[in-house]
Amino acid sequence: MFKSDKTPVWLMRQAGRYLPEYRALKEKYSFLELCRSPELAAEVTLQPLRRFEVDIAIIFADILLPLQGMGIELDFNPGPKIFNPVSKPEDVKSLSADGGESNKYVPEAIRLVKKEHDTIFGFCGSPWTLACYITDPGKYKHFQNTVIFARTQQAAFEDLMEMLVEVLSEYLNLQLEAGVKAVQIFDSWGGILSAEDYKRYSLPWIEKLLSKVNGNTILYCGNGQHLLEEVFESSADYISLDWRCNLEAACALAQKKNKGIQGNLDPTILFESPDIVSKATKSMLSKVAPDVPYIANLGHGVLQDTPIESVRTFVDTVHG
Ligand code: CP3
Repeated sequence: MFKSDKTPVWLMRQAGRYLPEYRALKEKYSFLELCRSPELAAEVTLQPLRRFEVDIAIIFADILLPLQGMGIELDFNPGPKIFNPVSKPEDVKSLSADGGESNKYVPEAIRLVKKEHDTIFGFCGSPWTLACYITDPGKYKHFQNTVIFARTQQAAFEDLMEMLVEVLSEYLNLQLEAGVKAVQIFDSWGGILSAEDYKRYSLPWIEKLLSKVNGNTILYCGNGQHLLEEVFESSADYISLDWRCNLEAACALAQKKNKGIQGNLDPTILFESPDIVSKATKSMLSKVAPDVPYIANLGHGVLQDTPIESVRTFVDTVHG
């Protein structure tokens, strides 16, 4: 995906509330307004690139945006709130396989960013992770309700997953046509599943999605340290590692499966002193086998209140 010898670097959630220029825009616009306006989304996407030497822009959007077109009513405050969660088979039947306006405003924002910065990544949520939000009545903390739904309403669960695969494949292909170099699939809640259930409820739908996507792909599985073998079985080109994953073990799998890796500094390390941030970043880099294609990143998104100078230290240390 990258031809230069230099290790490329970006940070998940590199645009957001730790940046004063983002908070200034949030005084005037809601999160959904920022996402739904191509001009504002492009501006927010470019904000971190004006401050840091990150190599990759990540389109400013949210994994939940395509759900609006499907008929899911949602808002952010700042976490997501779903007003009509799916709980029975009839609820699945009332949804449609339509990504709605996100199929227009996200690709348009990508085109605007590309006028200023060519290397941009797109993304979407995994079918499993989106099913978690869609079926969550807020009863359990870690989306156990979705596991129960998958176990007890098998046909409705499968219909929902098929619908998500259709919506997400169209959404990702439109992002690729708009010019993103790669798309990342966020399986943020994959890690709540055992390996056996991961192979039943998440991975097959990721595979179906990947088979329909025409471009470079990255798979991130949150809290997925017990699922390394499984994610490396996927056909994604790169595996993005949670900070709890062992980088050396992941490199051995990457060599065996001919994949690249991305990650995986613990985002809380950015709250340490610059010296420690720099040492931890160097330690991460030293664990990556030289023959494995590698993109430096965190093991999850930048946290709110992260010191800006630590982001700079992380990026500059990668560039050596
Ligand atoms: O990486 C980037 O810079 C692009 C922006 C981005 C956002 N959401 C913006 C956002 C990306 C890649 C996402 C993906 C996303 N959204 C995921 C997958 C990544 C992960 O964290 O595992 C998930 C699970 C969501 C759902 C979501 N959206 C949550 C849980 C929240 C609340 C989290 C928080 O920080 O409070 C959101 C809201 C959200 N998405 C914000 C941003 C900048 C905060 C909204 C605000 O600024 O008010």
